[in-house]
Amino acid sequence: MLMKAAPQNSDLAMGQSSFDLARIRADFPILQAKVHGKPLVYFDNGATSQKPQAVIDALAHYYQAENSNIHRGVHYLSEQATASYEAARGKVRNFINARADKEIIFVRGTTEGINLVAQSYGRSFLKTGDEIIVSAMEHHSNIVPWQMLCEQVGAKLRVIPINHDGEIVMEEYRRLLNDKTKFVAVTHVSNALGTIVPAKEIVSLAHERGLPVLLDGAQAVPHLQVDVQDLGCDFYAFSGHKMFGPTGVGVLYGRAELLEKMPPYQGGGDMISLVTFEKTHYNVLPYKFEAGTPHISGGIGLGAAIDYLSALDWPQVSAHEHRLLDYATDALSRIDGLRIIGTAKQKAGVLSFVFDHVHAHDVGTILDQEGVAVRAGHHCAMPVMQRFGVPATTRASFAFYNTIDEIDVMARAIERVLKVFG
Ligand SMILES: Cc1ncc(COP(=O)(O)O)c(C=O)c1O
Repeated sequence: MLMKAAPQNSDLAMGQSSFDLARIRADFPILQAKVHGKPLVYFDNGATSQKPQAVIDALAHYYQAENSNIHRGVHYLSEQATASYEAARGKVRNFINARADKEIIFVRGTTEGINLVAQSYGRSFLKTGDEIIVSAMEHHSNIVPWQMLCEQVGAKLRVIPINHDGEIVMEEYRRLLNDKTKFVAVTHVSNALGTIVPAKEIVSLAHERGLPVLLDGAQAVPHLQVDVQDLGCDFYAFSGHKMFGPTGVGVLYGRAELLEKMPPYQGGGDMISLVTFEKTHYNVLPYKFEAGTPHISGGIGLGAAIDYLSALDWPQVSAHEHRLLDYATDALSRIDGLRIIGTAKQKAGVLSFVFDHVHAHDVGTILDQEGVAVRAGHHCAMPVMQRFGVPATTRASFAFYNTIDEIDVMARAIERVLKVFG
């Protein structure tokens, strides 16, 4: 017997009265799917989340009824599409409590948002000898753009260490801040460990020295109610596809004061107000940073995802997600030889684990046979793997539509893995 007795609990016992899980699940058509003949258990939400029917409908509606290019059109469809796209920008502003629509820049995703800041702000305001602080738990997309900038301008990357639970060591952060520091870029929630980072404190320590801070919100926005004014950050980047919206669209929030000072990231249509061969004048915010035809349907679909999320009861969502994480942590801790990587006190929706004698890919493959979708690998956070001395982890990442019963299915599937690998 590999598993000790699991606690008795079921979705029905916990869910239906205060949080209508069955109704929420019915909003996501793919959750009814079968995989290898078994009901799909989707625990790869950290990589990308599923989409509610309302988002799928918004995308279809755009192509069926509004398809047209935006901003420059004088005809009806173009005006309709422009209005829908710009309404989505307003929804994003409201959702993260930015001050103005012009602070919301549509990008392809978190990765592009961070690259935009590194190339536009970084190349303009950083120089040889300057230092950029990141943490040891960053996703590659909050490491590599800064390394590229360092190569371009001769700056140096400094890394805040994390402790054995996967938490930022704040004393080390304080120690790293010095006169050479010119920028701080950290994640809000770690994709590999689930750690919720004390972002507000990180921002305020940087601001005491007048330093701008970018937060990578890719894993935070699906789980937390993000308020950029309360966080105080200067930039906040996130991806639509991880927050129940379409792929290929994301958001960079930037404080208008800083965005105004930054040069465009890319050149092309829409980001200009006047072009001559002698001189080009750039458009106003946010269009200065949105060269070319944008992902129009994506922006509109993201707006629909925000409408969906805004209609949820967030204290209930949050309580449900915590129950899922606590239950899964408890259930998996009972499995012999399983080690959880990432045991921070403040965590959101992620459970990474390893076995000494079974590779994460083998765990993932057998779980897939049972219909359970998890991610196995380095999760684009190789330095985190190095920090914990493991080549890879198996990661289950939850969303509010997941259930306690699904966690039981995963735990039983892991038991099967151990039977296969002895
Ligand atoms: C913390 C974090 N940052 C950045 C990214 C990159 O997001 P995208 O690939 O959508 O640009 C991810 C994606 O997994 C992530 O988890």
